[in-house]
Amino acid sequence: MARVFSGIQPTGDLHLGNYLGALRRFAAEEQSPDAVFCIVDLHALTVPQDPAALRARTLQTANLYLASGLDPDVCTLFVQSHVPEHTELAWLMECTASVGELRRMTQFKEKSASAEFVSGGLFTYPALMAADILLYDTERVPVGDDQRQHLELARDLAIRFNGRYGDTFVVPEAAIPTVAARVMDLQNPTAKMSKSVDSPQGTVLMLDDPDTIARKIRRAVTDTGTDVRYDPDTKPGVSNLLAILSAVTGTPPGELAGRYQQYGPLKADTADAVVEVLRPVQARYRELEADPDATLAVLEKGAARARETASVTLARAHGAVGLLPRSR
Ligand code: AMP
Ligand code: TRP
Repeated sequence: MARVFSGIQPTGDLHLGNYLGALRRFAAEEQSPDAVFCIVDLHALTVPQDPAALRARTLQTANLYLASGLDPDVCTLFVQSHVPEHTELAWLMECTASVGELRRMTQFKEKSASAEFVSGGLFTYPALMAADILLYDTERVPVGDDQRQHLELARDLAIRFNGRYGDTFVVPEAAIPTVAARVMDLQNPTAKMSKSVDSPQGTVLMLDDPDTIARKIRRAVTDTGTDVRYDPDTKPGVSNLLAILSAVTGTPPGELAGRYQQYGPLKADTADAVVEVLRPVQARYRELEADPDATLAVLEKGAARARETASVTLARAHGAVGLLPRSR
């Protein structure tokens, strides 16, 4: 099995895009003893967070990973801040990245354009993300389409570092799904579904109750005309529903389109399919939520396991750049 790493920020409520683009794939396709999954709480701090909310959301995100089917006896699940090697390697990555390439990151441009206060951390965010990945000799990084550019930078940094200091890091590759890599907002199907955009009716949350999910999908904005075709450019609303239904059922979106003459039945079937795919996840989540100590124990064990690998990689990187060893 390839070595796999991925992370999710404990900010906002996790939504259908997070589930289809990330969580569900982690559990279904990526689990193995070589897979490492992280709750990237330090990345969350790049924008202001309420401490109590961050604590609650970190635990909630861990429970959603587990509820989605991740088995902590098979793979490793941990919280980024519990493994100090992440911030230590991030420094070396900051010193490997140029200001120019960090400035070109579209996520930074978007987030800084609308923010009143732009932290230094928001700017160096991709260097920390590169550190997350490189610490585990990662080969595959399953993410949604919005992380493509960050992944490309992580690769560039690994290659540059190896070129300067000799072979130190494995150069990772992004694994982006062919369908539902970018689930769109149901009310604004030209923008991605997002935790940070205030569009409650356009965002299906993983923990929304079945009636709410069905209502949001039935009221999704569709396109002019009445024909059902999969064409994200000219029919973004309908294509988004087809992509969601496709991700849940496994039938290609073009084939699904041929089964519908009208929007109504497509919406009804998509609503039913999403309700049913989330139902067991929600039930398992409620069980996990009732026993926070059990989840904390999972995370503690996960961090210890992650450190075994991370500390070896960090020592290798420190040695490569010429830092004196801490112990002999
Ligand atoms: P984030 O919510 O930014 O921490 O993202 C966690 C994971 O979900 C990453 O792999 C993202 O690429 C993925 N993701 C976030 N939003 C979407 C979306 N609208 N469609 C598909 N994947 C997404
Ligand atoms: N930046 C990612 C996001 O917002 C989260 C993330 C942090 C991540 N470190 C990572 C994803 C390492 C994959 C691998 O979605």
